[in-house]
Amino acid sequence: MAQDGSSQLTNVCFLASFLWLSHSLQRHSLIDQPRLSAFLLLSISGGAAFVASLFSKWLPGTDGRFDSEAALKGSQSFLPQRPRRFYLPCIIVLIVVRLEVLHRVSYDFQCSTEGIEAFLPLLLAAYRFFTHRAVFVASDELEDMWGSPLEDLKSWLMSSPIVLLFSTVLFSYGVFLLGDFTQGSTYFCSAFTDQSSYIIFLQWIGVFIDAVVIVMAWRVLSWARTTKSRLRTLSAILLAASLAASVPWTVTRLFNHRQIIGHHPFRGIGSLYIFDVLGTGLIIATLIISGALLTYDSTPLEPIAIVTFFSGVLTSFHHILSIGTYKQTSIFKPLAVLTIISVGFTIFMYASNLRSVLFVRRAFIVFLIVWMIGASTLYAYLQKTYLRRHPVDDLIYNGRVEADRWLRHASVSTTLKLAVAEYKERHHGRDPPPNFDKWFEFAQQQNSPIIDKFDRIEKDILPFWGMKQQKIRDGLEILKDRPGVGIIKIADGEASHNSHSDSSQKFILDEAVSMISKFAKHLPDMSIAINLEERPRVLVPWDDMYKFKMAATRSDFQLFPSRLHSRETGNSVAMDNINGPLKIQAESSAQPYVPAKEFRQLQTLACPPGSPSRSGVHWNVRDFCHSCILPHSQEQFLQDWPMSLDPCHQADIFNLHDFFTTPHRLELYQDLLPLFSRSKTESFNDILIPLVRPDITVEPNDLDFAQKPTTVFWQGDAHDLQTVTSQALHGGHRHRLVHLVNNASVTDKVSMLLGVGAGSSSRFRYEDTRVRDVNEPLPFQFSFTSADECEDANCQLIRNEFGLQPRSPALDNRFVMLLDSADGPPASLVTTLLSNSVPVLSSVFQEWYTERIMAWVHFVPIDIRFHALHSTMAYFTGLKGRGTGKLNGREQLTEGRREDAKWISEQGRKWAKKALRREDMEVYMFRLLLEWGRVVDDERDKLGFVIS
Ligand SMILES: *[C@@H]1O[C@H](CO)[C@@H](O)[C@H](O)[C@H]1NC(C)=O
Repeated sequence: MAQDGSSQLTNVCFLASFLWLSHSLQRHSLIDQPRLSAFLLLSISGGAAFVASLFSKWLPGTDGRFDSEAALKGSQSFLPQRPRRFYLPCIIVLIVVRLEVLHRVSYDFQCSTEGIEAFLPLLLAAYRFFTHRAVFVASDELEDMWGSPLEDLKSWLMSSPIVLLFSTVLFSYGVFLLGDFTQGSTYFCSAFTDQSSYIIFLQWIGVFIDAVVIVMAWRVLSWARTTKSRLRTLSAILLAASLAASVPWTVTRLFNHRQIIGHHPFRGIGSLYIFDVLGTGLIIATLIISGALLTYDSTPLEPIAIVTFFSGVLTSFHHILSIGTYKQTSIFKPLAVLTIISVGFTIFMYASNLRSVLFVRRAFIVFLIVWMIGASTLYAYLQKTYLRRHPVDDLIYNGRVEADRWLRHASVSTTLKLAVAEYKERHHGRDPPPNFDKWFEFAQQQNSPIIDKFDRIEKDILPFWGMKQQKIRDGLEILKDRPGVGIIKIADGEASHNSHSDSSQKFILDEAVSMISKFAKHLPDMSIAINLEERPRVLVPWDDMYKFKMAATRSDFQLFPSRLHSRETGNSVAMDNINGPLKIQAESSAQPYVPAKEFRQLQTLACPPGSPSRSGVHWNVRDFCHSCILPHSQEQFLQDWPMSLDPCHQADIFNLHDFFTTPHRLELYQDLLPLFSRSKTESFNDILIPLVRPDITVEPNDLDFAQKPTTVFWQGDAHDLQTVTSQALHGGHRHRLVHLVNNASVTDKVSMLLGVGAGSSSRFRYEDTRVRDVNEPLPFQFSFTSADECEDANCQLIRNEFGLQPRSPALDNRFVMLLDSADGPPASLVTTLLSNSVPVLSSVFQEWYTERIMAWVHFVPIDIRFHALHSTMAYFTGLKGRGTGKLNGREQLTEGRREDAKWISEQGRKWAKKALRREDMEVYMFRLLLEWGRVVDDERDKLGFVIS
């Protein structure tokens, strides 16, 4: 009985470590270096098994009575046939092959099928079926063989290997079906370059190898005489496998050494990895060791069946709890699957004579299962699956209220006196910078609708308050002769720049100087470094930024009147840590070329510790990540636009945008340098500045809203795309969009919010719809074009994969989709706002005006994952009478909300004419440079504009 208890405890360990592992594997830094990780994990588990063998006294199956003697007596009823000699080397080779298969599958994970692993118990049951020996019928419940028919049935159930096999088929298949409920991401498996059937074949091979390894290891381990020798054998197997696994690792490393040499290491990468390897190694060790100990009194089938059952039930619950949302559109299916799994497992428990599971008696488990199904059914039918209002309706209404509120908040001050008071109020009591009165006058002259709200400036400059002035100037010196950086000098009220060569870069500086000249006489003397490239370049780890911001808030916010005295001395300690010798650091941290993987790692380092992006790689590109969109979405739709620009809560975004999936071919600075850039993502620390673009590609047009056809249009030049990495081809935002509407496969599905009924009684409901079916009625026109000859390999790849279309003007369409390039935001956003079209924006970048434009008021926001693209556009265009007029076998009666679209296009145009003009850029620039002039001044703490 004690034996039984401890083996149940081992079962608990086995199950717990498995569930923990499958949960924590969602995000991992281990995936970055799969071969190295495999080697380390095997070594750690081998070591742990050895350590465990030293403590074998306390582990189950240890005292002599159960060892050889017991085995002979047959009380160890599951003793398999003796293992053959070649088993050990075989196991080791198979482990290595298995790891390589896994590696290959995860490389093209988007083409894999979910749930194939659920068939592992089935393979083990099949093995048992074919090697069946009547060893496990020694049950005391079988005495009365000729009792009632019920008893007959029971005894048949408990002795027939067919029943065992059948029950395993049932619940394995049930768990496999669960994979169907998982919503796919738009990261696609190409019909042209990928071989999805090969990947699925490999998955099957993988499961098969798993089964073979498990059976062989079981036979080897069960013939070990004591627990100690069993663990020693296990340890030897694992260590030998780790050695064998180090071979492919070394080989690939030798071939890839080009990537590694010639690079300064980046700061901060690596510590996370070690931590992850250790943690995961210990969990895997627990899993393997408890698995090995379980061979004492069962075949491998039971523990693996229990684990499969549990994870199946948990996943079913998860789906049942999502019933009625866009995540789970069917009520019936998850309940049916839960029932299949439960029935299968119940029969299994009888057929394999499993009398208790994790300390719980079988009868009670059956009771729990029945109760569980009942409760789930009740829960599911009580869920509300209809929506009375379309969520976009609410979003537009709320957006409007929010935009009014924002504008009121941004334009409180009508007089200088009020503006000063308002400034102090919003800046923790700090005075406005000197010459604030001149700025105020300028802003009023230019009719700036915004006087009080410049949050972006505040945010960008704040960390520099925590940095010594000398160090900021040192930073400028470093930037002065870096490639792609222009310097604007303001001296004696005149602005000038230093550029000579490149015409488009000179254009940017010329324009900036001409804007600054209007107010240069009010600016202190200074030089600023302008990033002439499209991409942002200052990416400081979060920890450093945190120190700067802490130092800034401690020293410079005027919390107490007596601050002037305490400041000079008060902060030097905190400041010294981060104000060390900058020059050496900065030069060593400037990287001329950053491969995509490192680039992503560096960006995650800019996220606060504990945030989802920081805690590891999101490797599962196949499935949609619901938790990633949760913070910024309302159901399916994008609700909080500013929040959606922050990559820290959405680790999956690093696979889904060309900015992240392509290498960074510019110098990147890990030190806080004072670099002014046109655009950046939230992770970067460049200071945003309004710069005029040299290349506006969109011709304005003045067709009326009513004259434009109801089409949603996007076109991109194939030459702007880099498909250097496999990730960029399958996950790049433009590639995904075009694939989604032109090349969706038959099995792709999307959760659509569809209308039910018409007129006043109409309601909405999420339904699973085939992407191909719903593409047809929606007027999407997304394509790639090629301005030049399509001759290079890259362009030809694009042509084969997506096809090419002739160019046509975007603004002729009612809806204009705006996507980022790989380097920056869409160049034509302002032009589109100014036209009579509705901008449909999907972006990860910010510019100086980003805080001014409001989602659902000035433009329609689309999540970068495009999972709600169809539902959102169907709201505006309607489905009634479009295409065949039918979807999911039902006539669609929802009318388009043309008025809403028109309203958004008007709001956008009016606002762009008012707040996004060149004059507004100047007002922004003036204020930015006043703030900047103060923060670099040696006397910055005393400087301020005080009304007299
Ligand atoms: C994708 O669709 C485009 C346009 O319909 C077509 O030209 C192209 O061949 C398709 N690509 C594949 C791989 O089927």
